[in-house]
Amino acid sequence: MFVCICENITCSDVRDAVDQGARSVRDLNKELAVGSQCGKCVCAARKVMQEHIAES
Ligand code: FES
Repeated sequence: MFVCICENITCSDVRDAVDQGARSVRDLNKELAVGSQCGKCVCAARKVMQEHIAES
């Protein structure tokens, strides 16, 4: 499922970034450019990130 339509970023991409050490939306932005266009994906990206951190 896509998290960020503008940058074609999926939930799986976000989880991979967390596995590589991302721990904040800023990290996701640096690694994947999440939220760099319209910004509407930031809340969804944060949720996916936090869920994956909690699972790991
Ligand atoms: Fe992510 Fe627009 S949906 S920047």
